[in-house]
Amino acid sequence: MSEEKNKELIFQENLYRLVDSFGIGNQEGVKASFIECQEIFDYVSIVHQQQIAEEFQLDEKIIKTMIKFMPSIKESVVEYEVVCCSGARCAKKGSIEVLKAVKDTLDIDFDEITEDGRIRLTTQNCFKKCNLGPNIMVNGKFHHKMNKVKSKELMKNIKDV
Ligand code: FES
Repeated sequence: MSEEKNKELIFQENLYRLVDSFGIGNQEGVKASFIECQEIFDYVSIVHQQQIAEEFQLDEKIIKTMIKFMPSIKESVVEYEVVCCSGARCAKKGSIEVLKAVKDTLDIDFDEITEDGRIRLTTQNCFKKCNLGPNIMVNGKFHHKMNKVKSKELMKNIKDV
């Protein structure tokens, strides 16, 4: 198991523990989760924010606003967070080709950062938007119904900014 995957599991467990002890909807618990997340990853990515929102059953917008009021919390250490769906339903719709095109265009593997430090590539097992797949998320924004050509184009645009 890769180190990144291990960290994700540790964070998941800690998040469950925090929800248990603080209770659903508790903002102090959310703040503690940010701190925990940043200790593990050095930042609180969009995907982590979504996880926190889901577990504490709060709107993602509330989570985003709370982060803004905590200047010590960083949302990212990179300019672009690219998250590709690796779920089975997207795979049935051709995401394997999409994943390959993304990796080839960025010239990195999953859980890696480009050499210039600007782009991080990760996967998530299903965004629960399977009917619109294959899905890619860039800085929290979804790109649906991706194919090889569209995903290459999208990655090139990010790379060449
Ligand atoms: S499998 Fe990709 S969004 Fe569900």
